[in-house]
Amino acid sequence: MDNLERFLNFAEQSPTAFHAAENLKDMLKEAGFRELKEKDPWMIDEGGKYFVTRNDSAVIAFLIPRSGFSPFKIAAAHGDSPTFKLKPIFEDGTEKGYLRLNVEKYGGMIMSTWLDRPLSVAGRLVTRDGHGGIMTKLVNLDRDAMVIPNLPIHFNRKVNEGYAWNPQTDMLPLYGDGADTGKLLKELAESAGVRAEDVLAHDLFLYSRQPGSIWGAEEQFFSCGRIDDLECAWGCMTALATSEAREGIAVCAVFDNEEVGSLSKQGANSNFLYDTLTRIGRALGASDGEIRAAMADGFMISADNAHAVHPNHPEFYDRQNRVYMNQGVVIKHNANQKYTTDAVSDAQFTLICERAEVPVQHFSNRSDIVGGSTLGNLSNAHVSLNTVDIGLAQLAMHSACETAGTKDLDYLVRAMESFWKE
Ligand code: CO
Repeated sequence: MDNLERFLNFAEQSPTAFHAAENLKDMLKEAGFRELKEKDPWMIDEGGKYFVTRNDSAVIAFLIPRSGFSPFKIAAAHGDSPTFKLKPIFEDGTEKGYLRLNVEKYGGMIMSTWLDRPLSVAGRLVTRDGHGGIMTKLVNLDRDAMVIPNLPIHFNRKVNEGYAWNPQTDMLPLYGDGADTGKLLKELAESAGVRAEDVLAHDLFLYSRQPGSIWGAEEQFFSCGRIDDLECAWGCMTALATSEAREGIAVCAVFDNEEVGSLSKQGANSNFLYDTLTRIGRALGASDGEIRAAMADGFMISADNAHAVHPNHPEFYDRQNRVYMNQGVVIKHNANQKYTTDAVSDAQFTLICERAEVPVQHFSNRSDIVGGSTLGNLSNAHVSLNTVDIGLAQLAMHSACETAGTKDLDYLVRAMESFWKE
């Protein structure tokens, strides 16, 4: 199986950030990485491979070189994607004859892409453990069970001239009729091997089960949900899992909550990375000064997908600094520091790609368009080191079904392997 097929399997099996983290853990365990717990003391050996999770939705994995403590070489991506979250009380039977689900937006999705598309539910349940405590269960309904239906055009004649979707009234999925109260939680609980009455709380999200598809005249494109940013998360972690740390401590972080601003205990704007790097240093006997030196002398690649020129709307892109699918890894630039890239980190990353024979492209927004933000600058507020913002070019970012180029994932994996090898 090639990288793209393996990635599409991963994306299908990762409907939420919890599942993405679980699947990345499995990949790491298979590659010989050992799990460390934040609540336990850490014993770390030279030449060892480890990972740690926070909230079961963010993962940091790292390789210690045989030579021991040395500068950090970090990659960061995110495992969450825009979707709809079920509210604590999520059954809405107020419309006669229908049972709908009461949901709220998670992140900034293109809402219309979620309509008229069979959807499922996944996430985690927190249940009684039978001994007076709680336990967490990953759940995935894994069947088409709901749809957010459009109004017929006859009642919404101007829908093709633009329509403002209201998340409170337009976006409630239809799940059943009046007789179906209680069934969703029961089915989810059963799938996790617990009783519905033991469920105390939940984090549940909608997702589309539509499998990934490779298409185009030369099969040069592929489409699936959550390409932003599972593609970079999987690509970076895959490269780490197959790398040997030669020089420098190789670190790969996949954070949660990027789509809602990263400000959570498991987001890039938390102390998770700082804590992890500090604990690595301490466990290897490094002093506070040595740990700071290893950060100052380190390098970080913040990997989050980029906007390929839209074929029907090239006017939204800068004339020179525009990027295309299948033409290599994108280095992102922003004078106002929404991206961390500067001349030094740009040059360093360009050299890394040159060694791997990976092409690079440069992205900068039109000066009259304010682009999105990403992980790098927020993470830098906690662990400040030389950082480059990169990504892979894609279309339709934050659609329920996004599109990217079939060649680019290999480019990313090769670039990351080269980063950690040299
Ligand atoms: Co992203």
